[in-house]
Amino acid sequence: MFKFNKDILTNNFRISQLIQKYNQREDYPIVDNKILTAKKAQTFNVPIPENLLFIETHGQLKPKLEILSKLDDSFVVKPSEGTQGGGILIVDKVSSTNDSDHIFHTTRLGSLNIYEFKHYLSGILSGLYSLKGHKDFILIQEKISNINVFHEISPSGIPDIRIIVLLGFPIMAMIRFPTLLSGGRGNLHLGAVGSGIHLQSGKIFHSIQNNRSIDIHPDTGKQLLGLKIPLWEDVLELAARSSEIARIGYLGVDIVVDKNKGALLLEMNARPGLSIQLANQKGLRGAINTVLKKAPPDLNYKDRVKWSLENIK
Ligand SMILES: Nc1ncnc2c1ncn2[C@@H]1O[C@H](COP(=O)(O)OP(=O)(O)O)[C@@H](O)[C@H]1O
Ligand SMILES: [Mg+2]
Repeated sequence: MFKFNKDILTNNFRISQLIQKYNQREDYPIVDNKILTAKKAQTFNVPIPENLLFIETHGQLKPKLEILSKLDDSFVVKPSEGTQGGGILIVDKVSSTNDSDHIFHTTRLGSLNIYEFKHYLSGILSGLYSLKGHKDFILIQEKISNINVFHEISPSGIPDIRIIVLLGFPIMAMIRFPTLLSGGRGNLHLGAVGSGIHLQSGKIFHSIQNNRSIDIHPDTGKQLLGLKIPLWEDVLELAARSSEIARIGYLGVDIVVDKNKGALLLEMNARPGLSIQLANQKGLRGAINTVLKKAPPDLNYKDRVKWSLENIK
């Protein structure tokens, strides 16, 4: 592990000097609520995974379940205000039985019959996974098609790329590969692998799982070190562009790469955590100071990326 030094961003500094200073309270719902994020993203022409259905009340469960039973593709169930992978369920396919019942085949919970699946959805509506603990909505989203290099590393799920964006400038990045342990979700505290990405080259240079350094993906044994993230420029530009959706100056932007659609905004976080520093073996303070002291105002997103690549080392 790397030594504690003054470059490390601490939780106190993160809250008092970044979140409280640069993140506008009124805009929190835009990033905390995935349905609102999706709506805003559309008005800003920011590409996102396709949302197939919203379910807002228990009364809507029956008719919407009928639609879901007939989908012949995979999909993902999400609590709109969920966080850290809680409540996310990946449905690989729906099949029908002889007595015309439906079975939902999921990555994490195995096969669920329609009553079990309805019960699961009902739990989300009741707020079981909601950030604030109150009633929630359900988002049914297309399942991202994994690109080949990523599928070979983590066949259990889609990795997402977390970029810390300060005042519109990308300053640090990591990719989170799902594991069997994390149930196909790229959330570090569930046991996903986090790999630091060199901003300039887009290559992985260090990886962790459960806060310990590792070299290979634990499920597949694939080497992570040196892997170049496909479409890296697009990913950085999308992160810088997505930050324009809300007035959240210190932001975590999560991006996925779809085999057919390229880089897409998955979600945003107004209180991004600190473990990106472990994945990168590097503190955030240096990059934060560089942006706060030197970054020029009024650049467009492409120029902000260019500036970061030249100035954040
Ligand atoms: N549309 C999708 N297709 C495939 N996997 C997904 C999809 N959406 C989310 N996931 C997986 O679930 C994880 C968590 O999803 P996310 O939308 O970031 O929710 P949370 O706020 O709970 O972290 C992602 O890291 C990814 O691995
Ligand atoms: Mg997430």
